[in-house]
Amino acid sequence: MSFANSHEIITNQQGVHEHLIETVEKHLNHTFRKPYHQHSIDGFKEVEIAVAAQSKPLIFDSCCGVGDSTVNLAKMHPDHFVIGMDKSAHRLNKNVSYEQAGVDNFMLLRTDLNDFWRLALEAQMLPEKHFILYPNPWPKSKHLQRRWHGSAVFPTIVALGGELEMRSNWRLYLHEFATALGLCNKVANVTPFEPELTLTPFERKYQASGQTLFKLTAQL
Ligand SMILES: C[S@@+](CC[C@H](N)C(=O)[O-])C[C@H]1O[C@@H](n2cnc3c(N)ncnc32)[C@H](O)[C@@H]1O
Repeated sequence: MSFANSHEIITNQQGVHEHLIETVEKHLNHTFRKPYHQHSIDGFKEVEIAVAAQSKPLIFDSCCGVGDSTVNLAKMHPDHFVIGMDKSAHRLNKNVSYEQAGVDNFMLLRTDLNDFWRLALEAQMLPEKHFILYPNPWPKSKHLQRRWHGSAVFPTIVALGGELEMRSNWRLYLHEFATALGLCNKVANVTPFEPELTLTPFERKYQASGQTLFKLTAQL
């Protein structure tokens, strides 16, 4: 990952995607039935065991990348159990600080969140706080359905509830997410912010490049 020279998002959209509302409404009106990957089911069982052993309120750190934010959140919330999830084994395996983290109230899991979130909802394993930090922006208009608010799993993110915090260097992504939440009668705030303590490598990279960072918060 290059540092201090990261480019701002370039998109061919003029504003909120023209098909955002119909896409979100379609997903709100249809149950997402894609079969689970076996590795997602196996991973979820591991999480259930760890969660039962800790019996603390949960924080989901979805799209955690290398897991720095998971460790940071575990330190900031010693009374919670933090589950860092990412689909990339390569990223998760980079986390050299895992053993030296100095806290044990977290775990990292390789999983596809399209499965994990649905499994968690079915099992009523609900987060008190849910962080989605710097999700892949998919800025090309044709990729709307790859953004979390344009995906079939969006209603599940909402149904999991909790206090949601999403961060991005692309304001329009968060504005679209907030618009999608509005269709579920949820109110979200999107504001620029400057982190005192950077939580993730992408946040550090964008900050070092002088980019404005944005935060969405919502009580789901
Ligand atoms: C831009 S990176 C941000 C990583 C980290 N949050 C940070 O700020 O450094 C987005 C992450 O989302 C993960 N991701 C994308 N789609 C996913 C999915 N369906 N399930 C789990 N992780 C996913 C990617 O593997 C990647 O690590």
